[in-house]
Amino acid sequence: MTDAAFDAVTAALLERPTAPMAFETPVSLDTLPTPVLLLDENGLMRNIEKMAGYLGTRNKGFRPHAKTHKCPEIARRQMAAGAVGICAAKVSEAFVLVHAGIDSVLITSAIMSPAKARVLAELSRHASLDVVVDCEAGLELLEAALEGDDRLGVLIDLDVEMGRTGTRSDDEARVLAERISASPNMVFRGVQHYAGHLMHVEGFDARRDRSLRLWETVAGRVEKLASAGFPSEVVTGCGTGTFNIDSEVAVVTDLQVGSYVFMDQEYRLIGGPGSELFDDFEVTLTVATTAISQPMGVRAITVDGGFKVFASDSVNPEPLDLAGSRYRFGGDEHGILLLEEGTQQPVLGSVQRFITPHCDPTVNLHDVYWVHDGDQVYSRWPISARGCSW
Ligand SMILES: Cc1ncc(COP(=O)(O)O)c(C=O)c1O
Repeated sequence: MTDAAFDAVTAALLERPTAPMAFETPVSLDTLPTPVLLLDENGLMRNIEKMAGYLGTRNKGFRPHAKTHKCPEIARRQMAAGAVGICAAKVSEAFVLVHAGIDSVLITSAIMSPAKARVLAELSRHASLDVVVDCEAGLELLEAALEGDDRLGVLIDLDVEMGRTGTRSDDEARVLAERISASPNMVFRGVQHYAGHLMHVEGFDARRDRSLRLWETVAGRVEKLASAGFPSEVVTGCGTGTFNIDSEVAVVTDLQVGSYVFMDQEYRLIGGPGSELFDDFEVTLTVATTAISQPMGVRAITVDGGFKVFASDSVNPEPLDLAGSRYRFGGDEHGILLLEEGTQQPVLGSVQRFITPHCDPTVNLHDVYWVHDGDQVYSRWPISARGCSW
């Protein structure tokens, strides 16, 4: 079978830059071609080290998710901080990471296409690669693509109540484990359980109760697999919203935290233990826009960033430079900053920065991070897996 479409897209992915592009001399933030995505490198490193340290002291593995940042340079720093591997949401994201030198990748979504299975088999020859499955048909596709000495780690995706992907039945999980173990090219590694629907439950206690309840069910399923002869070396899952909950669960071996590297407004609003804002990690990602027009007088000013630079699936961008102001979307290219009466008037032409509403899909709208320290921008890091949704 010819995979001409896949050959074309993978060849194009190989052309993408993956290394930082430093400026010879730093440039000032107010000279950038706004709207741009800004990344505070020092804060990013503090977030990475804090998460790695937190999980390390609890004997949990750190398996950060690259779906958030899509950036090999950030993945490299996470590996250097002790990550056991990097997660990729899709084969194409894994493709970019592996070809940029990340040598341990777990693909957290199941694959149901023969051509993708072939790309994955090819990738497994360059790195230690794991993938999740949740049905026999998916396993068959992988089996058909693997050959010779190929080795692919396989985890069974479990669902408890989210209803997105994963198997709910113990029998089905056992049959999958049997089949993986019988394959000369596959290694049964364990299970994944990701409760995405709980990540933004407001209030720490409510989030904790619900997450712990689901893990009890998962622990029972892991036990059943083990007693059928299939012990799990890896029990992976979790996200930023439950990092300080799931890391206390005995059965969990590693956490797939993603958004903590940047923090976004959606996450900040869920609250932490004893605090209204979830502020365990710093906001390191912002969007810089420019105030470009003021047709409605002193109560509002228009900035040059709308749907094309901010994700619009959840809360609104949070203004950073004008206390008391609120952002509302003003179309594809525009946003309206609504100003509190009596607050300082922004000057037309001034830079206005915002905390991203939802970081992952916001990142996917941009080609590079403009890396800065305060007002000085000194590098651009390619978002090499931008648009890698297959
Ligand atoms: C399977 C999986 N694991 C981990 C994550 C990371 O979650 P978060 O960004 O909330 O840390 C996600 C995010 O959607 C995910 O889908």
